Amino acid sequence: MERSQWKSNIGFLAAAIGSAIGLGNIWRFSYMCYSNGGGAFLVPYFFALLTAGIPLLILEFGLGHRKRGSAPKAFHLVAPHWEWLGWYSVVFVMFGIMFYYSVIIGWCVNYFIFSFDLKWGSDPETFFFQDFLQLSNGPLEPGGIRWPILFSTAFVWFLTWFICYRDITRGIERACKIFIPLLIVLTGVLVVWSLSLPGAGQGIKMYLKPDWGKLFSGENWYQVWIDAFGQIFFTLSIGFGIMIAYASYLDRKANIVEMAVWTSVINCGYSFIAGFAVFGTLGYMAAQTGLPPDEVVKQGPGLAFVAYPKAISLLPYGREVFGMLFFFVLILAGLSSGISIVEAFACAAQDKFNARRGKLITILCLIGFAGSCLFMMRSGLFWLDIVDHFLNIYGLVFVGLLECIIIGWAYKTRILRKHVDDLSRRRWSPLWANSIKFIVPAVLIVILGLRLLEDIRKPYGDYPRTAVIFLGFLYIVLALVAGIVFTFFPWKGEMKRPEPIDEG
Ligand code: PHE
Repeated sequence: MERSQWKSNIGFLAAAIGSAIGLGNIWRFSYMCYSNGGGAFLVPYFFALLTAGIPLLILEFGLGHRKRGSAPKAFHLVAPHWEWLGWYSVVFVMFGIMFYYSVIIGWCVNYFIFSFDLKWGSDPETFFFQDFLQLSNGPLEPGGIRWPILFSTAFVWFLTWFICYRDITRGIERACKIFIPLLIVLTGVLVVWSLSLPGAGQGIKMYLKPDWGKLFSGENWYQVWIDAFGQIFFTLSIGFGIMIAYASYLDRKANIVEMAVWTSVINCGYSFIAGFAVFGTLGYMAAQTGLPPDEVVKQGPGLAFVAYPKAISLLPYGREVFGMLFFFVLILAGLSSGISIVEAFACAAQDKFNARRGKLITILCLIGFAGSCLFMMRSGLFWLDIVDHFLNIYGLVFVGLLECIIIGWAYKTRILRKHVDDLSRRRWSPLWANSIKFIVPAVLIVILGLRLLEDIRKPYGDYPRTAVIFLGFLYIVLALVAGIVFTFFPWKGEMKRPEPIDEG
């Protein structure tokens, strides 16, 4: 079977940026920034971008491009006994992250419709937790399915299926070429609108004013650094096997380094700019309600679904349009990331089992929808919080670390270095290779170690300990087992080494 290829490098860039820009850029980034010392958070954030984000993105692009394959195939070609790592990353993103990610996009669909008549009324907090989610008392009390969420999530899965089931150039590439420019323009409108509100300045001050103390001293100062690394991995979609799959469809002569830099700059720039819309609006809200700004925002999901609707209800004019615009932006951003998750797994299954794309995508979307049911229950938000916490650090950062060790040490960076250099205008490889060998793994080991210590010392959140440990670590172990099981199936797809130089 002929391997698909993006129609143009711009098409690839749109898809990669589409994967990177997602729900995480809007609510997660703003909240992280705010709770971790405002403007000072940008320091660890950019530190993480430079020391882990960009080098790993080059690694993933380079690997996918060089080996012309999904994560399992690329790692198999590095050395057959590493194939499981590729499966691990695509399994836990498809059957872990996507299960709840699709539900959050579903909430956005619900809220988009609620915007028509500002259904959340004057108390969006009660509305979100009690009327909309009907949150149960704890993770161990499922409380049944919330039907409105089931319908909206089914709709999200239908759209995902609709975009993915065709060939990448006609499905994903086309969709992202429309979604991404639209997303940027609409976000621009939101930013300008928010900044024009009275009191916006106060919000911006809270967003940008650095609290340096939080970075280097205080009780949990390292938490800020862990959050910054977690955010960079999540936002650039690193460690998911997605960027490997996307790069495998690239033209032979694509400039990998340039692509990686563009993807990260546009993604992180987008987060930064979108932050102005969020905080401008919150500043306005603080001015209107007389609340101190730091009481306006409470927690991640609350920011988009509580604080923002509240701010919208206070707007002087165009409330409904503003609400629809905001949730539409979230839906676009979420969908373009969701399709990339499905693609990472689909690409792997096509490579290994030579599966037919249409049928495969249909099955994946059905399983995905079934798995999302856990998060549509009345206890869904608890599970979402726990799974998100565990998958981000132990899932992504762990994969990133192994990638560095395998490529930097076991497999030797020499071949990939040459590959990257051959395609770039400058010689990046000495700098890049050293960061992959030394800097990135060192930083990631520290981050992982700190997080592990923290989680052992006190279990995450106020949940019953068993629930947290059970679901959190069980997810990781199951994905590992699944990864190993997939490895044992024989390769049905084409498995030839791309070029002889690969030996080595
Ligand atoms: N990068 C996406 C975001 O910031 C998150 C994502 C997660 C993308 C999983 C793909 C897969 O929201």
